[in-house]
Amino acid sequence: MDSDPPLLETYKTLFANSKTSSNNHDHRLVTVEERHLPLIDLSRLSHNEAEKERCQKEIARAARQWGFFQVVNHGISMELLEMLREEQVRVFKQPFHHKCREDKFLNFSAGSYRWGTPTSYFLRQLWWSEAFHIPVNDISSTPMEPFATKVAILAQKLAEILAEKLGHKSSFFQESCLPSTCYLRLNRYPPCPIPSDIYGLMPHTDSDFLTILHQDQVGGLQLVKDGQWIAVKPNPEALVINIGDLFQAWSNDCYKSVKHCAVTHPTKERFSAAYFLCPSYETVIESCSMPSVYRKFSFREYRQKVQEDVQLYGYKVGLS
Ligand code: OGA
Ligand code: NI
Repeated sequence: MDSDPPLLETYKTLFANSKTSSNNHDHRLVTVEERHLPLIDLSRLSHNEAEKERCQKEIARAARQWGFFQVVNHGISMELLEMLREEQVRVFKQPFHHKCREDKFLNFSAGSYRWGTPTSYFLRQLWWSEAFHIPVNDISSTPMEPFATKVAILAQKLAEILAEKLGHKSSFFQESCLPSTCYLRLNRYPPCPIPSDIYGLMPHTDSDFLTILHQDQVGGLQLVKDGQWIAVKPNPEALVINIGDLFQAWSNDCYKSVKHCAVTHPTKERFSAAYFLCPSYETVIESCSMPSVYRKFSFREYRQKVQEDVQLYGYKVGLS
């Protein structure tokens, strides 16, 4: 029984059209330079005060200058990461029609399983991927729970450091970002017959405070640095951290929510898992300094706006 979503079949007409229309896009998926992100050793946080301070400063600098960085000695063991990956592979291997009814057999909420993109009018808008988007609460008592517990602690620690470096020692993130409001997104990118034309995930920014990504060795994550797309070289021991829109707004544009995407591979499937540090819908996001670049807004308002924009324009407009 086939476990792959029927991407090729569903987008047949888009494929046919792509052969006749000329593509005029800003982002050539094939000619992107591979670079290392800033790499930060978090074990330095438990060294002496001076070393801890230097490490915190590096985190804040990377969030300002890159919006992206990698961390090692992050407190999540290789065993836990392997357990997560094994479970992820197992879940995606299920027959496609079972995954579509994921609430029945995995106990995830209905609608957790997503594949392709419902609003694809052009090939370049198509996501060549499938994903489970799971509220962290739904993960309890699954083999992914120990990972979820650890990654939540790491996310809180990083958010606190980033806030502190702006001069704000606060319990804001602990109070507003709870297991019921944070998400784990399991991504799978099947091999793609025309990888130079189709994204695994379209260029986007994340709509959260920060994201922690664990990716395999295939590679495919790309991001914008100084106006150029660059590819991230996978590092098996590292986790990739990126700033989301909410932190950019909260930090008054100090930390950058940077556009990124996932590209596909012609022969290899790729897995990644992302943890999104999100607040409750009622939480109001207000800049921590004045004068504020953005008016204050609730997370609910923001999510609604993103959904409306995607329906209207086919893409997310983001902070404005
Ligand atoms: C995401 C994301 C990148 C990747 O899930 O929001 O950007 O490499 N994923 O899977
Ligand atoms: Ni993302």
